[in-house]
Amino acid sequence: MVDISKLISEMTTEEKIGQLVQYNANLFIDSEAGITGPLTDAGLTPEDIGRIGSVLNFKNAEEVCKIQDMHLAADRNKIPMVFMMDVIHGYRTIFPIPLGLGCSFDTELVKECTRMASDEASAAGIQVTFTPMVDYVRDARWGRVMETCGEEPLLNGLMGAAQVEAFRGEGIEKPGNLATCVKHYAAYGGAEAGRDYNTVELSEHTLREFYLPAYKACIDAGVDMLMPSFNSLNGVPSVANNWLMNDILRDEWGFDGLVISDYNAIGELITHGVAADIKEAAEKAFNCGCHIEMCSSGYVKHLAELVDEGKVSAEKLDEAVYKVLELKARLGLFEDPYHGASPEAEAAHSLTPTNRAVAKKAAMESAVLLKNENILPFKKEVRKVALIGPFADNHEIIGFWSCQGKNEESVSVKEGVAALLPDAEIVVAKGCSNKWNELDASGIAEAVAAAEAADAVILCLGEPQNYSGEGNCRTDIDLPGIQNQLAEEVAKANSNTAAIIFTGRPLVLSKLNACIPAILNMWFPGTEGGSAAAALLFGDANPCGKLSMSFPKSVGQCPIYYNHTNTGRPKPNEDRHYGYNSNYIDCGNLPLFSFGHGLSYSNFVYEDMTLSSDSLTADGSLEVKITVLNDSAVEGKETVQLYMRDMVASNVRPVQQLIAFNKISLAPGERKTITFTIKEEMLRFWNNENKYVSEPGEFRLSTGCADHLIKTQSVILK
Ligand code: GLC
Repeated sequence: MVDISKLISEMTTEEKIGQLVQYNANLFIDSEAGITGPLTDAGLTPEDIGRIGSVLNFKNAEEVCKIQDMHLAADRNKIPMVFMMDVIHGYRTIFPIPLGLGCSFDTELVKECTRMASDEASAAGIQVTFTPMVDYVRDARWGRVMETCGEEPLLNGLMGAAQVEAFRGEGIEKPGNLATCVKHYAAYGGAEAGRDYNTVELSEHTLREFYLPAYKACIDAGVDMLMPSFNSLNGVPSVANNWLMNDILRDEWGFDGLVISDYNAIGELITHGVAADIKEAAEKAFNCGCHIEMCSSGYVKHLAELVDEGKVSAEKLDEAVYKVLELKARLGLFEDPYHGASPEAEAAHSLTPTNRAVAKKAAMESAVLLKNENILPFKKEVRKVALIGPFADNHEIIGFWSCQGKNEESVSVKEGVAALLPDAEIVVAKGCSNKWNELDASGIAEAVAAAEAADAVILCLGEPQNYSGEGNCRTDIDLPGIQNQLAEEVAKANSNTAAIIFTGRPLVLSKLNACIPAILNMWFPGTEGGSAAAALLFGDANPCGKLSMSFPKSVGQCPIYYNHTNTGRPKPNEDRHYGYNSNYIDCGNLPLFSFGHGLSYSNFVYEDMTLSSDSLTADGSLEVKITVLNDSAVEGKETVQLYMRDMVASNVRPVQQLIAFNKISLAPGERKTITFTIKEEMLRFWNNENKYVSEPGEFRLSTGCADHLIKTQSVILK
């Protein structure tokens, strides 16, 4: 094992600083790999570049090995570079976007997908992934909702921790495993008006109750690194926010890992207006504990003089370098600078039939059946199927942040249905565009004709995959363009019509819901999206997803989320739009589809819910037993959800909070009883003194989903 302290003692200040700098691969080699955000005019000298310690965004294993070889040949200290990239929902085989995977409520499935992504990415040269992204979200206008697991802190934290565990495997030194980086700390998803990079203003107890827990869950799961967010939080950008970066992260949570800035986030301290120049930005970020600067030149240009001027301590500099070299040592890079990567390994591990099979399973488990008025599943004996809409014959269904995934390697809906129904006649009519400003209606007539002539009609609608993801926010989250008009015309032509939706966010589907009897939300399902959609539409698979984020009736309701407080004037009902109540004049308060909602082809009957006691003491526990019957002829899976409501407390409390869930399979006619154990700590909250407490009183425990509670029982915490 390398002697890091000895190595540091032999390094010059400039060589040390090089370890704290990360730039894109195309600074070292002419790479086609995509870059995110502006590659600022680095103005680096060849000597600067020769000392850089880590690389972002490269094309493949061949490039990684080439850059590493070039660097090691020239580096006096023979310190290997470390290679990092965003493996968010797959590397080459692409799985559903995280907002979709969250709907599976299946951490084991998320681990299975993550293991495959890790295996592919590691073989291709990635050693660290900027994953999991666990930003808590409530506003579907924000483009990066696609990257998270939605509006429930418990679900976000469990899914994030599952990814950390799966990427790290039996040890990050092993080929096939990656070091991990939780992001974006903190509350990036709370951007005002759902506009990316916008200001975030939140009370401390709201931060602690909703926005911080998932980062903490990932730290508790052993995440290696952390990335502060671009946004200012209560007036201070995260990367220079001492309360976040030291009081909470290090002093309270005990995080001792590496911190890397987001892309040019240190440079953006100037734009935020909290640093006069890049030197001051570097000083603020470094002294707040940001070890590596990604793609801006503050450290490489000014850290040495800041040390000379006594504004940055030489000991802190050595500590930062030690952490970087320690990560490289833990990755085994001093022994194997390629971490097992090679073009041959990359080819052998990428896009295998096994990976595709898991991608299909994940896409099926992530889909959410939002509505079904006895339309789905279609019969496989159908003779003529019309596939209508901009996603009928479209490979662009893998979503944003799809790493080295390729649209053309995905299975389209047309291909999926054709493969499943080789004897059926399949007619495709695009009908219209999925772009917000392309309103040509000339294709609708052909689509209507196709619908009239078909036995079954599948409307394939949604938003383009670059309408979500980083920087891609929308003020109108309805189906873009004239897709609603297309749907209305097609629905008139054939009542045996179902719609499938491709989206990176909750969309406003109110108009579609008014005319279409069945709606299946596929999210961006990834490489096997079309085959998964076909299996679900024709009954080879039974939808089981539950929404990880609410679908508003109108964008005007955003932000809208299930775990809201009651207010002094909760809506009396969805229809009364006048008078002194909290309804809008033109819309009710409820979402169209709530967190936790999702239908099945089975008929699940919640027969009973019993408590082992009607009271709970601080050191005790009680059992909640919920009995569910599959009263149908179709096998299916159901996520049994347990919610709680704290009826009276020193702070207003959410009307519902998910405190546990369990996904079960039930054969036709099968009955199962699920047992949840409730303990006092599950009833705690952050009060106005920012203490994490439970308070005696009544708690109502319910099952069902957030806006459709089926059974409720009260328990008294003593
Ligand atoms: C981006 C993103 C961040 C990502 C980084 C490197 O701007 O905000 O999530 O990890 O740059 O790609």
